[in-house]
Amino acid sequence: MKIEINEVKDNDNDGAINLADVEWLLKNDKNVATPLKENGDFRSNESIEILKEADIVVTNPPFSLFRPYVAQLVEYKKKFLIIGNINAISYRDIFTLLKNDKLWLGASIHSGDREFRVPDYYPLNAAGCRVDDDGNKYIRVKGVRWFTNLDYKERHEDLILYKKYHGNENEYPKYDNYNAINVDITKDIPMDYKDLIGVPITFVDKYSPDQFEIVDGIGRYSMLTGPTKETKGTYLTKIDGKPKYARVIIKNKKVTK
Ligand SMILES: C[S@@+](CC[C@H](N)C(=O)[O-])C[C@H]1O[C@@H](n2cnc3c(N)ncnc32)[C@H](O)[C@@H]1O
Repeated sequence: MKIEINEVKDNDNDGAINLADVEWLLKNDKNVATPLKENGDFRSNESIEILKEADIVVTNPPFSLFRPYVAQLVEYKKKFLIIGNINAISYRDIFTLLKNDKLWLGASIHSGDREFRVPDYYPLNAAGCRVDDDGNKYIRVKGVRWFTNLDYKERHEDLILYKKYHGNENEYPKYDNYNAINVDITKDIPMDYKDLIGVPITFVDKYSPDQFEIVDGIGRYSMLTGPTKETKGTYLTKIDGKPKYARVIIKNKKVTK
């Protein structure tokens, strides 16, 4: 269905205008919903024509189609606010958008998992499900974030750094196979180091493009190139032969002594 809503009134006369009134509209106003002619796939011509009309796209796309979904939003130059998994950062196309300041994480989710209400018929077999006192069903999803190209104030606030590299070199070993120092916890980024620094992917939760430059990303392959002949298989950064988790490689733009 294509659903068009131009005005919401207190349709159910409960004194407030809220989602219950939208629900009332959908059930009672024949004009808001029209059946689609095609199958509703976001890549169908009919869906693309609807997309072209949009100023901002807000949705929760299927995680398995996250890359083509974002590619389409970028192709049609849309503003967007969509739900995805933090791991999508390491996909080549998503990472490239992040590095080029065309996509970033949204303001309100920066850790842990999030609960989503699901329809009554949804089978609850995953760990971390619950049913509330009213019988509503919920599932918990790990690693959830907003991905967006809408700017917001907090994204330009510097992370307060309190550690120093000089004098504490032992705490910041260089990788065996990449010319950068390693930082295991984002808040430990040294304020006085001007060259390349490897940080965990969750750094992106704190990333201000005014404070840091994203240079590269290293997982099982380079996040900028994807798997290549040279980097096929395990390409993780290593220290003393031991692989580290995936790392985003950054530079501090505001080095202080
Ligand atoms: C994560 S769910 C989110 C559902 C809904 N937006 C919500 O927040 O409750 C992803 C939805 O995308 C739909 N979907 C899957 N493949 C699709 C495709 N190729 N085109 C359009 N929608 C698709 C699924 O049926 C599912 O309803």
